[in-house]
Amino acid sequence: MPPMTDTAPASFSTVGVIGLGTMGAGIAEVFARNGYTVIGVELNDGGVERGRQHLEHSTGRAVKREKMTEEQQAELLGRITLTTDMGALSAADLVVEAVVESLAIKKSIFATLDGIVRDDAILATNTSSLSVTEISTANSRPGRVIGVHFFNPAPVQNLVEIIRTVVTEPAVLDAVQGVLRDLGKNPVVCGDKAGFIANTLLFGYLNHAVSMYEGKYASREDIDAAMRFGCGYPMGPLALLDLIGLDTAYEILDTMYKQGRDRLHAPAPILKQYVTAGLLGRKSGRGFYTYEAPDSPVVV
Ligand code: 3HC
Repeated sequence: MPPMTDTAPASFSTVGVIGLGTMGAGIAEVFARNGYTVIGVELNDGGVERGRQHLEHSTGRAVKREKMTEEQQAELLGRITLTTDMGALSAADLVVEAVVESLAIKKSIFATLDGIVRDDAILATNTSSLSVTEISTANSRPGRVIGVHFFNPAPVQNLVEIIRTVVTEPAVLDAVQGVLRDLGKNPVVCGDKAGFIANTLLFGYLNHAVSMYEGKYASREDIDAAMRFGCGYPMGPLALLDLIGLDTAYEILDTMYKQGRDRLHAPAPILKQYVTAGLLGRKSGRGFYTYEAPDSPVVV
C-alpha cells in the first residue's frame, strides 16, 4: 500500500463519498490517506455505523502491521466526516457515488445531487457494470458526470477504470485522471459498455469456475489452487468471488449478459441460489467458503 501523504492539490480538497459499504468505505479511506477531507454519506444511522466499522477495521489492520501509527490512524479518521445529510455535499469538489448496483437508486441520487452540489463539482459513479450515460442523464449537468471504477480492496488495488461517456467534458476527464494519479492509482480510460475492461475479461473466467464447481468437476480448494499455484493469481476464482460478494458478482454478470448476450456471462445457476439463501461471501460470513470475520482466513 502507498504511504500516507498530508496534502491534497489545492483545486481538489474535499471529496464526498455516497454509500459506505465495502467499496465506499475503501474509497473514503484512499482519499483520506492522501490528505483529502472526506464527507461520507449514508442513508441511515445503521449505514453510518457500518461505514465507521469498515474504516476502523481497515486502518486498524494497517496499525497492527506497523504500516501506520495510532496517531496517523486518528488523523486519517479525523479527516472523514460521516453523516446522513446529503446537504453536506455542497462543500465537495468531487462526489463519488458507491451505493448498490441499482440503476434506479443511482439515478435518484444523481437527481438529488442537482440541488445540492456546486456547479463546478465533478460527479462520479463507482458502478461496475451499469450505464454511466444513463446515470448521468438523471443530472442536469451530464457533461460533469464520469465513471470511476475502483477495485476491491480499494486501498490495495492500484487500478481505477475511468469511464467517459459521449458527453463527458474533456476537462472533467483530465481532472479526474489527475486526482487518481495523485492517489497513487493507475487510471485507465474506456468507453461506456457494461463490464468495462477488467470485469468483461474477469467475469467470464469467474463464472466458468462456478460452473465447474457446480458440476462437481473439482473441489473448491482444487479449483482455487489450480489458478493460484498454476497461474500465479493472488487468489483462486471462488475465494475471489467471496471477496467481491456473490450478490455483486451476480448483478455484474446479469447486467453484462443482458447487454452483450455472451453466454460466458450467463450467471451460473448456483450463484443465484447462494444469493437467495443469503450466502454472500465474506461480508455475510459464508459463500463458497466460511469465514469467522470479513477478513479472516477460511475456517471451513
Ligand atoms: N482492505 C484493506 N487492505 C487490505 C485488505 C482489505 N480487505 N486485504 C488485504 N489488505 C492489505 C493488507 O493490509 C496488506 O497491506 P500491506 O502490504 O500494506 O501490509 C496487503 O493488502 C496484503 O495483504 P495480506 O498480506 O493480508 O494478504 P495477501 O498478500 O494475500 O493479499 C489481497 C490480499 C490484496 C486481497 C490479494 O489476495 C489480492 O490482490 N487478491 C485479488 C483481489 C482482486 O482481484 N480484486 C479485484 C476484484 S474485481 C473488482 O473489485 C471489480 C468489482 O467491480 C467487482
